[in-house]
Amino acid sequence: MRTQVAIIGAGPAGTLLAHILAQAGIEHVVIERQSRDHVLSRIRAGVLEWGTVETLRRYGLGERMDRDGHVHNTINIAWRGEEVLSIDTVDRVGKRMMAYGQTNIQEDLYRAADERGAAIVFEADDVALHDLTTDHPSVTWSSGGSSGGSAGGRTERLDCDYVAGCDGFHGVARQSIPAGLRREFEKVYPFGWIGILSETPPLPILLYANHERGFGLCSMRSPMLSRYYVQCPLTDTVDDWPDDRFWTELLGRLPRSQAEQIVTGPSIEKSIAPLRSFVAEPMSHGRLFLAGDAAHIVPPTGAKGLNLAVADVLYLSHGLIAACKGDPGPLERYSDTALRRVWGSVRFSWWLTGLLHRFPGQTDFDQRAQEQELYHLSQSALAQAAMAEQYVGLPY
Ligand code: APR
Ligand code: PHB
Repeated sequence: MRTQVAIIGAGPAGTLLAHILAQAGIEHVVIERQSRDHVLSRIRAGVLEWGTVETLRRYGLGERMDRDGHVHNTINIAWRGEEVLSIDTVDRVGKRMMAYGQTNIQEDLYRAADERGAAIVFEADDVALHDLTTDHPSVTWSSGGSSGGSAGGRTERLDCDYVAGCDGFHGVARQSIPAGLRREFEKVYPFGWIGILSETPPLPILLYANHERGFGLCSMRSPMLSRYYVQCPLTDTVDDWPDDRFWTELLGRLPRSQAEQIVTGPSIEKSIAPLRSFVAEPMSHGRLFLAGDAAHIVPPTGAKGLNLAVADVLYLSHGLIAACKGDPGPLERYSDTALRRVWGSVRFSWWLTGLLHRFPGQTDFDQRAQEQELYHLSQSALAQAAMAEQYVGLPY
């Protein structure tokens, strides 16, 4: 097989890139390790920057988002027991955000792919990238092997002009850049988040809580689907968190006025995620270009992961389209352009994580400094504007 762009990974980054390339008439094939159902079963964050909203609309992916998503314009932080600091992003920076789950975006992307009859290879095992520093790279994989198909592990090969590594943090693309040419920056946080979905009406606002028992977050997916998180030790498993314990802990971390409004119910999903910041530089190697979680991870505190993947894909699609038309300049600049924004979101997510969590071993001094920063944020329109500007997303 031959194509112009081989895309590794059919998560949000890979399928959005495919969608944009299709609209520009660029041939591509998407190769995904998992099944479609498996990809759709992953629950991820759900707050879209306004630039993400506009990007999805521009490429014809906004219909269900505009119908079912929830536009909001406040960042709410509960701290010191009863106070809720509410930062109005429209007042501060003239922009809003949208609550719309990544799972829904993935469904919308797969539906759009079905409508255009797109080529997505699912359940591809042993994906490997070859000859990336030549002008004839290729991708191989085995199909129908351990994933249970009937072909019994046949090796497939795709020749291409460019490879887009959109295969997430545990993918093969980043590892295909020789270790000596790659620099990795990492921060692992000493706690995780346990999150639940419940079919109960959410709070009308997105609420972050800094509490002496640890961080808590109230978020939403739809009028009858709520998403909640609490900070937990890394050693915990979901078995340590029966629903009753989760609700008691969440409500205990919220001001009473907010806790009283929470409607509890059985969880329909429960998972624990560790928190990590990670950046790999550069985001390109020869004809390989990384986008999304393949190149970087942020802690979920600022809900930046998906938004950053969308920004990468926007830059990368422009670069690939220009290169296919004979102008290699934007693609050569892709890594530098993308990394500028990546570090902006990585720094912001790290800062917000530090502001809102209780760290094991946090000293009284650290505690006072954190309280002072929250107090300053509550008093200063400039500090609120700086936070809001980054939360709703910097311009591309
Ligand atoms: N070969 C092919 N596909 C692979 C391989 C591989 N070796 N390894 C991983 N994949 C697939 C995964 O199964 C997954 O479907 O690549 C896809 C990567 O998708 P994501 O992990 O969702 O990453 P990305 O598309 O960059 O999405 C950005 O936003 O909210 C954040 O972290 C969240 O997933 C999210 C991200
Ligand atoms: C979510 O809705 O899952 C969510 C919202 C805000 C965050 C993180 C996750 O900062």
